[in-house]
Amino acid sequence: MATNLKINGTSHQVDLPEDVPLLWVLRDELGLTGTKFGCGVAACGACTVHIDGEAVRSCQVALSDVWGDITTIEGLGTPTAMAKIQQAWVDHQVAQCGYCQSGQIMQAAALLAENPTPTDADIDDAMQGNLCRCGTYPRIRAAIHDAASKLKEA
Ligand code: FES
Ligand code: FES
Repeated sequence: MATNLKINGTSHQVDLPEDVPLLWVLRDELGLTGTKFGCGVAACGACTVHIDGEAVRSCQVALSDVWGDITTIEGLGTPTAMAKIQQAWVDHQVAQCGYCQSGQIMQAAALLAENPTPTDADIDDAMQGNLCRCGTYPRIRAAIHDAASKLKEA
């Protein structure tokens, strides 16, 4: 059965089994490969996208369970405010291998939308499910603080 999805402001119709994970739809069907496959069991956060602004693990959301508009890393930079988060990542040279970073940015964006001035503890709490095998956690934290300041100025 065809399913309608709105992704990064564009409507898509996909004809796939309803139990296919959203991550597969994004990457294999629609070519949105910025969202990464890490573990497939909700343990790493590499596949994080937003549904109606909420950070979710797309490896765990079946196509039939998608409840709203989807934003992926490819769409995040469109609004000016969100571009500031990505700029903070660049300014702090956060990425090492980069594999986890789209998930990290999507999680951070959801945090900042909910809490514009997070403390270190808030950041650690919100980001604890996003793993980085390169250990970029201190730079992620610094970039989130910087993004929070930039968003406040905007
Ligand atoms: S791939 Fe989804 S949480 Fe790891
Ligand atoms: S930058 Fe390499 S896994 Fe995070």
